[in-house]
Amino acid sequence: MTVTIPRACVIGHPVAHSRSPLLHGYWLRTLGVTGAYERAEVTASEFADFLLGLRQRGYVGANITVPHKQAAFSLVDRRDDTAQAIGAVNAVWYENDQLVGGNTDVYGFLAHLDASIPGWDASARRAVLLGAGGAARAAVHGLLGRALDVALINRTISHARDLAAHFTMRPSVHTFDELPQLLERADLLVNATSLGMAGKPALALDLAPLKQAAIVYDIVYVPLETELLKFARRRGHRTVDGLGMLLHQAVPAFGRWFGVTPRVTPELRSLIEADIRGPIGAA
Ligand code: ATR
Repeated sequence: MTVTIPRACVIGHPVAHSRSPLLHGYWLRTLGVTGAYERAEVTASEFADFLLGLRQRGYVGANITVPHKQAAFSLVDRRDDTAQAIGAVNAVWYENDQLVGGNTDVYGFLAHLDASIPGWDASARRAVLLGAGGAARAAVHGLLGRALDVALINRTISHARDLAAHFTMRPSVHTFDELPQLLERADLLVNATSLGMAGKPALALDLAPLKQAAIVYDIVYVPLETELLKFARRRGHRTVDGLGMLLHQAVPAFGRWFGVTPRVTPELRSLIEADIRGPIGAA
């Protein structure tokens, strides 16, 4: 008799850098769940065939990463409300015989903020959000859902306008020149650009206009503490880093595939931090 175990994977190109196998592997091991999580290196031309044959390949579901999130959006049988709102799918699973696409980035963004600063949204009214890519879109959706006014700032203003047009409760759109005035009134500042990431230019912001009670959230997680978070911490702001968003966004998908809802623990965080820092002695 052949015994099959539930298997999931992360589909991307390139996929070697993905930390999802480490994350899900940790939960499979520590929760005693019988299952496997693998990497699937799949090019754009192979993607539709791979995704539509996922079950035949023995998978119960998958994470979808760069560059396939929009393609997955068009290929699934059905999308959950969040994926529909975001226009991108980062996790798929089966319900009955349908392949369902979801987007767990919004959940990850908010769950990490809620866990880091419980009750933050009781008093926060205005957010300033930098960026207009996929991560910014998830953050905007999450913040609008918590009834915040969102001011969107991006280098390429047309990208910000396109993003804003996607939502019924439209965020306002601004240039970086308007940042000082916007910061004065902000309760939350979010960096959802790739600035400050290792290998990218620094995000040089003057935080002076920001009131001390404001929260600063950077979704960049390599390095673990960005310059923005370091400055903000030194100025006495409460800060929220990007690694927690990565960890939390994995929770709902694991639950769907393996039937157990995992937890983000300090031990898991240490494991991923060690992987980001690399072997001792590495730069
Ligand atoms: P993701 O989908 O991961 O969010 P993305 O779509 O590449 O990534 O978005 C990157 C974001 O960082 C964009 O908002 C981008 O601004 P543009 O829309 O003007 O490209 C922003 N970004 C990247 N490099 C930047 C730079 N050097 N200066 C200012 N903004 C930058």
